[in-house]
Amino acid sequence: MLAAIPPTPFHASPLNVEDIPHIMTIERASFSLPWTPAIYQHELKENPISRYLGIRCHHDALPRLVAYGGLWLYLPEAHVSTIAVHPLLRGLHLGAWMLAILLVEAVREGAREASLEVRVSNRVAQRLYRSFGFRVVGRRPRYYSDNKEDAYVMTLRPLDRLALMQRLHREEQTVRQRWHERKETVMAQFTTYAQP
Ligand SMILES: CC(C)(COP(=O)(O)OP(=O)(O)OC[C@H]1O[C@@H](n2cnc3c(N)ncnc32)[C@H](O)[C@@H]1OP(=O)(O)O)[C@@H](O)C(=O)NCCC(=O)NCCS
Repeated sequence: MLAAIPPTPFHASPLNVEDIPHIMTIERASFSLPWTPAIYQHELKENPISRYLGIRCHHDALPRLVAYGGLWLYLPEAHVSTIAVHPLLRGLHLGAWMLAILLVEAVREGAREASLEVRVSNRVAQRLYRSFGFRVVGRRPRYYSDNKEDAYVMTLRPLDRLALMQRLHREEQTVRQRWHERKETVMAQFTTYAQP
């Protein structure tokens, strides 16, 4: 019974400039073309169409930030600007929870559809996006400057508020279940390899 599973140490909230060092730890480990702290400074303080949210952690042995993602609001479209999960905390459905959080926020802001770009080689992210109903609608040749890789353009339309709220709830429960099943293994990895 899920009700018997203890809560996780994770909770979601908006990001602010004090989060930038924690964002950068995940960013550098996740992307071959990482954004710089200056880009995040701009995104978090100056860009009026940006919204950034994160999943924080209040366990002393784990990082304070475990996932984050962003939106650019080109209403009625919301563009997912980025999403990443700490490498040692992948596979717990934190990414799916993060995406659900972003899309619910997009709807709250008035978006009726969502879009994003993803490397053609990034099958893991594509699978996550497809599970939300995103479909490939185009391809941008040589979009990424490091290896000249193409990007797929994916869209989700319309954004269904009720379905997204249900997905948000389901993903939070899945994180809870997986954390309960895997926390010893995950914690052991942090003790061995990582400084929080
Ligand atoms: C993409 C990313 C955010 C996914 O986060 P995550 O927390 O590891 O993924 P989740 O645990 O939420 O997985 C959700 C679904 O994604 C897919 N997925 C996740 N990891 C996968 C893997 N290693 N292989 C295949 N599919 C995978 C599965 O469909 C999975 O659902 P399932 O476990 O029920 O099968 C994460 O891998 C990441 O930060 N990658 C680096 C940054 C990046 O590529 N961002 C996207 C840029 S477009």
